[in-house]
Amino acid sequence: MVKRTIIHEDLCIGCGQCANDCVACCIEIVNGKAKVREDMCVGCGHCYAICPKNAVELQGWGEGGGEPISVPVDPDALLGMMKSRRSTRQFQDRAVEPEVLEKLLEAGRYAPTAENHQVVEYIILDKQKDVVEAKAVKQFRKILKVLVKVVPQLATQVIDDHFFFKGAPLVILVTNKMGMDDGLAASYIELMANSLGLGVLYSGFFRVVVKFNPKLKAMLPIRKGYHLTNCLVIGYPSVKYQRVPPRLPAKIKRH
Ligand SMILES: Cc1cc2nc3c(=O)[nH]c(=O)nc-3n(C[C@H](O)[C@H](O)[C@H](O)COP(=O)(O)O)c2cc1C
Repeated sequence: MVKRTIIHEDLCIGCGQCANDCVACCIEIVNGKAKVREDMCVGCGHCYAICPKNAVELQGWGEGGGEPISVPVDPDALLGMMKSRRSTRQFQDRAVEPEVLEKLLEAGRYAPTAENHQVVEYIILDKQKDVVEAKAVKQFRKILKVLVKVVPQLATQVIDDHFFFKGAPLVILVTNKMGMDDGLAASYIELMANSLGLGVLYSGFFRVVVKFNPKLKAMLPIRKGYHLTNCLVIGYPSVKYQRVPPRLPAKIKRH
């Protein structure tokens, strides 16, 4: 579909808010009406979001949107939830409902994205989950001796058959080709998961084993030019945490 950013002149009041807020500086007010240089537009939707008269129409830039901007959540409640999250490694034998999965992906979809590229892609491990994990565990055991030198804690860990996915029902692989949008999307998904009562583990060792094993990588439908950057292991936790552990103070230099 052709991408178009259309400002309906009959609705535009020429207030200039869209022009002032445009990241690409591609809107100007001509004879009291906003005009867009569409070839420069990145489709970020700021003009659409800010227009007091709803005069902007975005075509081909994506789906959804249009709902009113919601009030911020209570900051203390949000911080409390952020501090209460834990890497979850023990899961109930309970599937993640399709509508819950949809909410997680919706959260990822609305994570910040550099230049509005929206390039992050997800792979949801389904029928191949066990096959992929079995291969990953086999490979991991082979390189364990080397890895222990870098991560000594691995020496005391049991590399069982579910070392990577912990028996969780849902595994989302996050892939990206550039920038850091993947981490932002993963973090949004994790927070949404926490708010839905789910637990999440960033399975970083899975990423490592895929990185060093082309055959394993080939088993995954990762788009050419893309890299596996995050592996989110998700399910309803079978453990309940009682309190927030301490963290080191933020490391800050004022300059
Ligand atoms: C990027 C990333 C990768 C991680 N990879 C693993 C992993 O492969 N296996 C694991 O058991 N924990 C993994 N963790 C969890 C960390 O060990 C955990 O965040 C840390 O122990 C602090 O605990 P908390 O997340 O509950 O606060 C990972 C965490 C992050 C952020």
